[in-house]
Amino acid sequence: MAGDGTWQVSGSIAPDAADLLRLFIPLQRTPSFVVGQIGQSLDGRIATLEGHSHYVTGPADIVRLHRLRALADAVVVGATTVELDDPQLTVRQATGHDPVRVVLDPGGRVSADRVVLTRASGTTLLLTGPDVSPTAANTEVEHLTLATTTTEGHRPRFAPDAVLQVLASRGLHKVLVEGGGVTVSQFLAAGALTRLHVAVAALIIGSGRPAFTLPPVARLDEALRVPTRVFRLGDDVLFDLDLS
Ligand SMILES: NC(=O)c1ccc[n+]([C@@H]2O[C@H](COP(=O)([O-])OP(=O)(O)OC[C@H]3O[C@@H](n4cnc5c(N)ncnc54)[C@H](OP(=O)(O)O)[C@@H]3O)[C@@H](O)[C@H]2O)c1
Repeated sequence: MAGDGTWQVSGSIAPDAADLLRLFIPLQRTPSFVVGQIGQSLDGRIATLEGHSHYVTGPADIVRLHRLRALADAVVVGATTVELDDPQLTVRQATGHDPVRVVLDPGGRVSADRVVLTRASGTTLLLTGPDVSPTAANTEVEHLTLATTTTEGHRPRFAPDAVLQVLASRGLHKVLVEGGGVTVSQFLAAGALTRLHVAVAALIIGSGRPAFTLPPVARLDEALRVPTRVFRLGDDVLFDLDLS
């Protein structure tokens, strides 16, 4: 590790392997992180309007996502992703343990038959607002309630910091906020992410669900511009933003 805290790879090592180490060793070595991740098209979409998203990015990027899951204690997803994608959120294309799955479902609208609520093994935390009855019967699903706040014209929301506190109280300090765009945007807007992985595929969807929706800024110097590393992942390009 260099004096400035960054990791540098020296000696004869293949460029792909060096990139792998540069990308993942800092995450492997740190005791805690909150990494947001998005796989988007050139025009900033993560899915069609109907929610079809398999797949925006290519195989190398899917492996990156599974490696991130393997490094994480917990993986957080929004209710819409669970409803539309019915993801497993397990580590299948890398070596490592499955993270605890965390579903943000303030209104309790996620169907009881979703894989993350019915899988026999592994833990799922289902976070709902107060006064919401759990739909899931599986004993591996832990139902937690968390206070929500509602601003005019918006649905009830958990404060991202409060979600992270709940996870930390369970010893879950390495957190991957996997999607979708609404969920990652909430954590980003709240300043709750330490890093953000944005994988961009050379694909134009033209309409669809957006990667990021943040409060408007009047001037470009108010936009988020932070130190960023760039990696090639097959046909895709990964931007690794340092938000710490
Ligand atoms: N390309 C990618 O990287 C990627 C990754 C994941 C998913 N996807 C795709 O993205 C689409 C879904 O993304 P999306 O942006 O529409 O929705 P989303 O982020 O999956 O889910 C948003 C919903 O989750 C709940 N939620 C999120 N943050 C919350 C918070 N802080 N407090 C309370 N509730 C919170 C809310 O549920 P309520 O509406 O009930 O209030 C919110 O409307 C799907 O089509 C999926 O296939 C793509």
